[in-house]
Amino acid sequence: MEPAPFFVASRPATGEGELTVHHPYDGRPVGRTTVATPDQVDAAVAAAAGVAAQAAALPAHARAAALDHVSRRLAERAGEIAALITAENGKPLKWARAEVGRAVSTFRWAAEEARRFSGELQRLDTDPAAGGRIALVRRVPRGPVLGITPFNFPLNLVAHKVAPAVAVGAPIIVKPAPATPLSALLLGELLAETDLPAGMFSVLPLPNDRAADLVTDPRLPVVSFTGSGPVGAAIRRAAPEKHVTLELGGNAAAVLCADWTTDEDLDFAAQRIATFANYQAGQSCIAVQRVYVHHARYADFLPRLVAAVRGLRTGDPASDLTDVGPMVSEDAARRVETWVAEAVSAGGTVEVGGLRDGATYPPTVLTGVPANAKVVAEEVFGPVLVVAPVADDQAAFAAVNDSAYGLQAGVFTRRLDVAFAAARALEVGGVIVGDVPSYRADQMPYGGVKGSGVGREGLRSAMDDYTEPRVMVLTGLAL
Ligand code: SIN
Repeated sequence: MEPAPFFVASRPATGEGELTVHHPYDGRPVGRTTVATPDQVDAAVAAAAGVAAQAAALPAHARAAALDHVSRRLAERAGEIAALITAENGKPLKWARAEVGRAVSTFRWAAEEARRFSGELQRLDTDPAAGGRIALVRRVPRGPVLGITPFNFPLNLVAHKVAPAVAVGAPIIVKPAPATPLSALLLGELLAETDLPAGMFSVLPLPNDRAADLVTDPRLPVVSFTGSGPVGAAIRRAAPEKHVTLELGGNAAAVLCADWTTDEDLDFAAQRIATFANYQAGQSCIAVQRVYVHHARYADFLPRLVAAVRGLRTGDPASDLTDVGPMVSEDAARRVETWVAEAVSAGGTVEVGGLRDGATYPPTVLTGVPANAKVVAEEVFGPVLVVAPVADDQAAFAAVNDSAYGLQAGVFTRRLDVAFAAARALEVGGVIVGDVPSYRADQMPYGGVKGSGVGREGLRSAMDDYTEPRVMVLTGLAL
């Protein structure tokens, strides 16, 4: 197996040592790359800083053409890329295919946004002293971006760093997760096919402990990080003067409101919650982790949910029949095992679940778990659901808010007044009405409050984040 090249200043490169990527399901090697040397890292940063002015001046058609090219090439190579995602991350093929489809649309949206990103005119003749004046407010890149990406969406969460950077004309350096660098390297290959100027992007495989120098490097004034809370907090502490976006974790909740009553409604909610607590083995920041059910429906709903979870097929992620594959590593599955054991010793009951098998943890439903147990209060990031009855909708919303996190929530209701009450009450970045919290359209603002982070991704939101307004006041005009 030849080591895959990484990218320094838009060109393929080979570094030192060896980074072998293993399939989480059976541990077999699925790809290799090398690690960027300190000199290569410096060359990447210097090139990003050196090309920043040229990149900011790129016309919209050039930025959009590059983004459209990547979108098209991702679509052309979709089957191969989905297989690569499954091999390095372990997510079932159907979810890997969905991820590629989303990345196609992330780049396509970025191209469209690049074409419209024009700024706005502001009248200034609202004041008699400013007669004949008007302001043109445009956004200019803050400078080169450092994107640090996680393992759970090894393609599309890289796309969410790269595509808005290209759309605004900001160079970007990506440090992919060490467990899953291969999809990011493939993206580098597609970016290298474009006419973007040299230095516009680098993709650097590095161990996490070498990211600190990049975080504090003054030539990279923007840091966009997706990952764990403690690392996000460390980045903020290390670079207080930088513009930092943090997409951190969550313990997403779904609420079944008092009006969600029919057999059909309960079956629908059970299916959706079972699927989206366990997609990608629960390794999504918006996977359902907590479910609050109106007490009058609890006895009716719980068996439906347990049956839906029991119906999920666990196994080889390369099979089209598999719903739940392995977690990213055996260590990750062991941690979940420990947390479930802690919940059980605190009084919880396992309604469905089973024994860990290597990196595979079976989809598990717990009840009777105290609110301070880790599986409720912290981010499980595994295929574990905790279900509890609540007295009424207000109590459910309070339970959702009783969390250090606030990313997204799902509210099963058909009543518009309840939906608006939920959107007002819930301390989260997004409320999904009539469905699970695990919904993300790539163009919509995405991010959280409290421990779930700062700033928003989603193409237009990230473009705003990577840029700052620059005002040009025109004078002496007949308006
Ligand atoms: C995440 O885990 O935060 C990303 C979720 C998504 O993009 O669907």
